[in-house]
Amino acid sequence: MTDPATLENLLACPRCDKTPLIGSDEGWRCDGCRVDFPVIDDLPWMFAEPAAALGEWRGRLHFSLRRIDQQRQRLDAALDQPALREPTRRRLTALRDATADHAERLSALLRPLDIDSFGAAPETYLALRTRLPPDQGLTTYYPNLHRDWAWGDEENSASLDIVADALAGRPPGSVLVLGAGAGRLAYDVHRRLEPASTVALDFNPLLLAVGRRAARGGKVELYEFPIAPRSADEQAVLRTLAADEPADERLRFVLGDVHRPPFAKGSFDTIVTPWLVDILPEPLDALARRINHLLGAGGTWVNFGSLSFHGGDPALHYTIEECRAVLTDHGFAEPAVGEREMPYMCSPASRHGRRELVVTWRSDKTGKAKAPERYRALPDWIVRGNEPIPVSKEFQAQAMATRIHAFIMSLLDGRRSLKDVAKVLVEQQLMTPQEAEPAVRTFLIRMYDDSRRQTTY
Ligand SMILES: C[S@@+](CC[C@H](N)C(=O)[O-])C[C@H]1O[C@@H](n2cnc3c(N)ncnc32)[C@H](O)[C@@H]1O
Repeated sequence: MTDPATLENLLACPRCDKTPLIGSDEGWRCDGCRVDFPVIDDLPWMFAEPAAALGEWRGRLHFSLRRIDQQRQRLDAALDQPALREPTRRRLTALRDATADHAERLSALLRPLDIDSFGAAPETYLALRTRLPPDQGLTTYYPNLHRDWAWGDEENSASLDIVADALAGRPPGSVLVLGAGAGRLAYDVHRRLEPASTVALDFNPLLLAVGRRAARGGKVELYEFPIAPRSADEQAVLRTLAADEPADERLRFVLGDVHRPPFAKGSFDTIVTPWLVDILPEPLDALARRINHLLGAGGTWVNFGSLSFHGGDPALHYTIEECRAVLTDHGFAEPAVGEREMPYMCSPASRHGRRELVVTWRSDKTGKAKAPERYRALPDWIVRGNEPIPVSKEFQAQAMATRIHAFIMSLLDGRRSLKDVAKVLVEQQLMTPQEAEPAVRTFLIRMYDDSRRQTTY
């Protein structure tokens, strides 16, 4: 097996799999692809198209900052109302101040992303089909930061126990945590289970930037905005995110995509997937092959979390029995499967919190799986642009809804009532009188709800 102490021995090009890459103070380079993977704020950007990924995350940072600013404006407007009770005014004022401060802290923390010189290349990015999923914002898993580095040990110890129990005393060797989030599990595994080295991989630069700082002994102050604050003082809690002790240098944080893992074949002895397998757009079969490929002979896959697959194809919404079959079909032994109840996202400042019955499995690699195919985030007719666009049933339904919605919107002029709008739809023979009024009402309810939806950061 490789010398696990150096990242050089683990990394491979996420575009062509070439290894080793050439390392320098600025980052890593694949000579074959002539691509540089920069190190920004001490994190290697190992995306297949690093410039475009940086551009996307920068865009998502600016989007988050705009949303926070809109929330601040909404709070200012709420404060402008006359006759607010004194406790309400105090609560709103504190929340408005925290919101404004939160934006400044986030933007200071992620200032290293704002390097305009590193221009994006949308065409190459498209051609590589490595775009980020549209539902993954910078702050999608924001509460994980506080759970990992500020709420205490209960939830984090429960996760570590699952991994330790799954390994049952087997030395973990060289460990990879995929979808490591804010990095606490990788840190705990590294400090408590004494692996040769640990790599935490995630594609979210906010989570990894904070995780890396905390794990290295730094402190980061960020607000928590609990879902259901226990008191007025706990609606925005400025917390210090920190670890008890710094981890050593053999714990590393790498930015990259699970679908294009930037690691050499057979580099790891243990791969952990915490709360990951059911949120990826790729079928579990593909992930199993990818993990098989990354593990050395006899390596171990430890998985835990929910099994709540919800992608487009219902055939892929696997139960645990089907997951067993996936594993054994792709070069893994019959897994040891278990269930464990654990707390989930229980902030001390919130009345909200869950207990989850999580599924766990451990399975050892028994043989080589077929090489994983390149993940394609987008179909050819979008990427190449010269093939006919297939008109699926879903597209037809969307096209019809969009036309009707656009027409209804064009009728909103500040004078017409709901009934007036419905009448026009009937006159235009777009709907029957029975259909028109309920349809307009449904549409307006959706618009109304959207306009009042609470933003979360
Ligand atoms: C449900 S969270 C779990 C986080 C962490 N493992 C935990 O247990 O708290 C899923 C994590 O996977 C990351 N993730 C999702 N898709 C990914 C991808 N394609 N590549 C890398 N990371 C991904 C997200 O950024 C997020 O941190």
